Amino acid sequence: MATVLAGPLLVDRVVAREIAYKLGYTLAGSSLRRFPDGEMLARVDDAERLEGTVVIVKTMARPMAESLLQAAMLADAARGLGAERIVMVSPYLAFARQDRRFLPGEPVTAALAVKTLASSGVDALVAVEVHKEAVLEWFPGGRVNVRPYRYMADIAGLKGGDILVLAPDLGALERARMLATHIGAGYDYLVKKRDRITGEVVIEPKSIDARGKRVVIVDDIVSTGGTVAKAAASLLGQGAKSVEVMVAHWMGVPGAPERLRAAGVSRVIAGLTLPPAETGGLVEYVDLAPLLAESIRELA
Ligand code: R5P
Repeated sequence: MATVLAGPLLVDRVVAREIAYKLGYTLAGSSLRRFPDGEMLARVDDAERLEGTVVIVKTMARPMAESLLQAAMLADAARGLGAERIVMVSPYLAFARQDRRFLPGEPVTAALAVKTLASSGVDALVAVEVHKEAVLEWFPGGRVNVRPYRYMADIAGLKGGDILVLAPDLGALERARMLATHIGAGYDYLVKKRDRITGEVVIEPKSIDARGKRVVIVDDIVSTGGTVAKAAASLLGQGAKSVEVMVAHWMGVPGAPERLRAAGVSRVIAGLTLPPAETGGLVEYVDLAPLLAESIRELA
């Protein structure tokens, strides 16, 4: 009998419950204990034995280092209860942006994070839109990078017409292409250009004019909102009709909703991969559990 073990956060439980329902697996819970000296212990609740496959749902919300360690603790605990195969579902896989040593003396945290999971007994890893898919290659077992944009566009009702999908940079162009092809829209990536006369730096599409367009900026993460806010303000200044954002992970950093609103962003469509934040209605969350369940089924 396979089990879905929910991590201790509410968002872990919500996603785990839906995956268990879709796959017909039993649901188990976990809890977190904090000791007076600050140490913590994540444990599996109310289970004397776990058999067969155990799917652990543990997103890496802030504080990320604690979340990663909790995921490792739950994998070890599940193994201790008899789990034969452990699939870790990390809707948000933290530390993935540091995928190389940008400066001497820095660690490659992306590799460290997935190796930590592997060494705690995880056999397969499912994550939503890892910053760069290549990060998963450091994980020695089965792995799936769930790309959510097409599904999110369907749920949010985005359809071609006057939409222009923009990636924040050339490296992210594949995301824009994937979404734009699906909804029948044009796509491009943003570049910084300096006006030769005024010296002002503007952020504009490489080759398609944004004037009069309903722009959708697609990115993997909104953290402080700085990247998207700068682009949105510049695009609206160039005559874009509106700017919306589609993002796999909304990190919930304080100040981000205000920053985006001030820049003129009218709507954010975000995957429910992290605890939902209070954004005064700016962010519309899309439940990605159906996609995660499909990926787990494919791995089996
Ligand atoms: C960067 O490589 C990522 O894809 C995001 O663009 C970045 O993390 C967003 O961060 P912020 O919202 O703080 O600008």
